[in-house]
Amino acid sequence: MCGIVGYIGSQKASPILLAGLSKLEYRGYDSAGIATIEKDSIRIAKDKGRVENLYNLKETKELEGTIGIAHTRWATHGIPSKVNSHPHFDMTESFAVVHNGIIENYLELRKFLEENGYKFISDTDTEVVPNLISYFYSKDNENDDFKILRSVKKACDKLIGSFSLEILSKYMPNNMIVVRKDSPLVIGKGNGENYIASDIPAILGYTKDFYLLNNFEYVILSKDNIKFYDNNLKEFSKETTTITWDAMAADKGGYEDFMIKEMMEQPTAVRETIGSRIENGKCNFTELDFTKEYLQSLNLIYIVACGTAMHAGLAVKKTIEKYCKVPVIVDIASEFRYRDPIVNEKTLCIFISQSGETADTLAALKLCKEHNAKTLAVTNVIGSSISREADFAIYTHAGPEIAVASTKAYTSQITLLTLLTLYLAETLETISLAESKEIIDGLLELPSKIETILKNTKQISQIAKNIFKEKDVFYIGRGVDYVTSMEASLKLKEISYIHSESYAAGELKHGTIALIEKGINVIGIVTEPDLVKKTISNVEELSTRGAITTVVVNEATEKQIDKSIFNNVIVVPETISCLSPIVSIIPLQLLAYYVSKEKGLDVDKPRNLAKSVTVE
Ligand code: G6P
Repeated sequence: MCGIVGYIGSQKASPILLAGLSKLEYRGYDSAGIATIEKDSIRIAKDKGRVENLYNLKETKELEGTIGIAHTRWATHGIPSKVNSHPHFDMTESFAVVHNGIIENYLELRKFLEENGYKFISDTDTEVVPNLISYFYSKDNENDDFKILRSVKKACDKLIGSFSLEILSKYMPNNMIVVRKDSPLVIGKGNGENYIASDIPAILGYTKDFYLLNNFEYVILSKDNIKFYDNNLKEFSKETTTITWDAMAADKGGYEDFMIKEMMEQPTAVRETIGSRIENGKCNFTELDFTKEYLQSLNLIYIVACGTAMHAGLAVKKTIEKYCKVPVIVDIASEFRYRDPIVNEKTLCIFISQSGETADTLAALKLCKEHNAKTLAVTNVIGSSISREADFAIYTHAGPEIAVASTKAYTSQITLLTLLTLYLAETLETISLAESKEIIDGLLELPSKIETILKNTKQISQIAKNIFKEKDVFYIGRGVDYVTSMEASLKLKEISYIHSESYAAGELKHGTIALIEKGINVIGIVTEPDLVKKTISNVEELSTRGAITTVVVNEATEKQIDKSIFNNVIVVPETISCLSPIVSIIPLQLLAYYVSKEKGLDVDKPRNLAKSVTVE
């Protein structure tokens, strides 16, 4: 779970690499480094700490080369330290490598290399890679142009795990080799120069034309040329994909942090996700070819995802079941993949992933394909691994999400999944015209309702001032409000480091209520009109035991409560039940944000977390 960047051209490489790394820090930020090809050798500047430290290193300033590779690390093997930072050399300093992923069999490979006289200086799994290349290079007696590529391929054939690699060699001073397997890598095509990165936004300022690499595609780059080789090292040609995002969209756009910018973008993200999917009162998904017969043959829909994306799945479970009359199981990808799930051609498997790169979600998808189920990806990144691996892919149009804590991707995911439900139910003919109209009207009104809530930052930031010193915060709700409480709790803990739990309000009496004492903060989400009395009485029970209570209500449920008994009442616009998770999460995203700001934390890059978890 690291970020990699590369540049090959006529300009000095290091400033371009540093700028790219800064954009990739969300993927890891415990150390950073650069290697460039200098006159007759490769030079490395690296250290632990953030990319900004790398800017100031004397070694960085001395790099003059126009071909370079760079890395920002999220440690998996070996503590964050200078020696464990990438790039890594082989023992002879002839090959330098940066790596994203995990080499699972590195101990075995290291032993083999040590037996062959290779010495290691780091604790990383990566260091076996340049040394293996060096080993195969030394064993190859041919001296043709492909000797290095052959050595790289022989090394990659030995690797078990995931990797995207950039490789420099002093024997090949005008080129760079890259390859990937199960870790992301894109190549940006320039004019007399080319770029490599873990994701598109990192280099979007330089080009809009990208090559999206598949597993085991080997690439030799020069400044004027990009040559692709398959896993048998046979050359093939590849088409570029043109990306239409605005480079500015990936920047902070005047906001203090990416997270607040991304929360504020939610009206637009939701509006663009709806896009032109609704036409003449119907929902269109031309990229899907699900027939009524196929959908009727289904006995189960699985939704598999991680983190916030999994919560988006939970938020639509009831909607799909209600309107499509098919049972839905929502599962955490890391659990699903190891529990031998019952999946077959009668199961539709939906995978939600903002990045489209989450390792567990990708592995779960592959498993479902092996069991002959149809697979559908719901992602935000065109060309991502999950979108390419799935039989079908549909996209949220939230734009690049940089802050680790997911906000606009979440609300866009629920929006898109609700549209998908409409399409499925319309195809199945299990939804009435009136029901479908109610949902469509609700969807179209969402952006302006979200805008209204986003104007209410004053009240929320005031509540944050009263919460930021707390050690525990509890969130409770019933039905879809319970899902919102899970997502709200995750937001708070990940960016404020306050311990927080979410509970189904009806479960409190089965244990959790024992934790409630004077001064504990409890946040109740109460937007389900049919359940308002029940949830409110749960909040009241906590209030009488000394809890400080905040409730999130909507314009309808507000009328059913006595506001004077709660410490804070946040009112959001009313919408239909299946869309209320989109509306009611907004003030709670803001609350987590302001609590984190009150604590003076780095909102966008919380400790120990990474935006894209491309390893298990
Ligand atoms: C990480 C991120 C979360 C995200 C989860 C799943 O944990 O910090 O924000 O929800 O991964 O990521 P995905 O890209 O698959 O949605």
